[in-house]
Amino acid sequence: MADRLEITQKDLNKIRDFIFKETGIFFESKKDYYLKSRIKQRMIDTGFETFSEYYHNLAFGSRDGEALSLIEELTVNETYFFRDFPQLQGFAEEVLPPYLDNKRAKKDYSLKVWSAACSTGEEPYTLSIIFQEMIEDYELWDVRIDATDIDRRALRHAKLGLYSDRSMKDTPISYRNKYFERTRDGWQVLPNVTEYVIFEQLNLMEHSAMRKRRGYDFIFCRNVLIYFNESSRKKVISLLYDALLSGGYIFLGYSESVGRITAAFILEKKGGFLCYRKP
Ligand SMILES: C[S@@+](CC[C@H](N)C(=O)[O-])C[C@H]1O[C@@H](n2cnc3c(N)ncnc32)[C@H](O)[C@@H]1O
Repeated sequence: MADRLEITQKDLNKIRDFIFKETGIFFESKKDYYLKSRIKQRMIDTGFETFSEYYHNLAFGSRDGEALSLIEELTVNETYFFRDFPQLQGFAEEVLPPYLDNKRAKKDYSLKVWSAACSTGEEPYTLSIIFQEMIEDYELWDVRIDATDIDRRALRHAKLGLYSDRSMKDTPISYRNKYFERTRDGWQVLPNVTEYVIFEQLNLMEHSAMRKRRGYDFIFCRNVLIYFNESSRKKVISLLYDALLSGGYIFLGYSESVGRITAAFILEKKGGFLCYRKP
């Protein structure tokens, strides 16, 4: 008997192209098995019996319908508080102090930061903690942390602010006591952290929505561009460049590099890590 949920190589390629066009995420052929199993799962969940029916609904239905549900099934949301500690330490101790001094000299006490691809919220909340710990005249500053992701499920979790021990594994003990409450269900992040963070759904490949974002001092776009290919990476970096203030910095994940993508940034070596500044 033929498998009703049969997906041919041609079908798979259609989905690969669709996901790439919508999100910038490129599934190489070595991920075929994963891609196929996720599509089959969505076909089961939605009740479509043939690939062509499913694909029609995906490609021609509303964009926040099956298209987004499949994207959410495929995204990797792995994250935790204080991820890549040495980079954050370098940011907190070497980049932030002179940057803020420069703003103080201009009597500019606004600090606008963007966690682009924030997943379940650990990254923007980490930044909120870092600012409170590092800025001695914090009460004078107007701090705003925008946190965006394509994945609605991840954003719901982020707004809830309740985390497992795994998310907390790199969080220093003193911060656990100061910024979290231990509950029966996990670690609840406290309002003194959440009040500076604004969550919103955003697709990094959505040109018009991306172009509305402007005036950021720092952008953290970590561990997402590894899933993109060279052309979609280039496109996103160029949009993030436009969103930065001149003199502002972008921080990427450990294995990602802007250098290969654009020469527009100034490469700065701070301690043991590299960061990219807009001239
Ligand atoms: C591995 S997590 C990274 C989280 C955090 N930045 C960190 O470094 O720990 C990658 C996130 O990128 C998001 N993502 C993937 N493609 C995206 C796109 N086109 N627009 C916005 N977010 C996207 C996923 O939903 C996922 O939550």
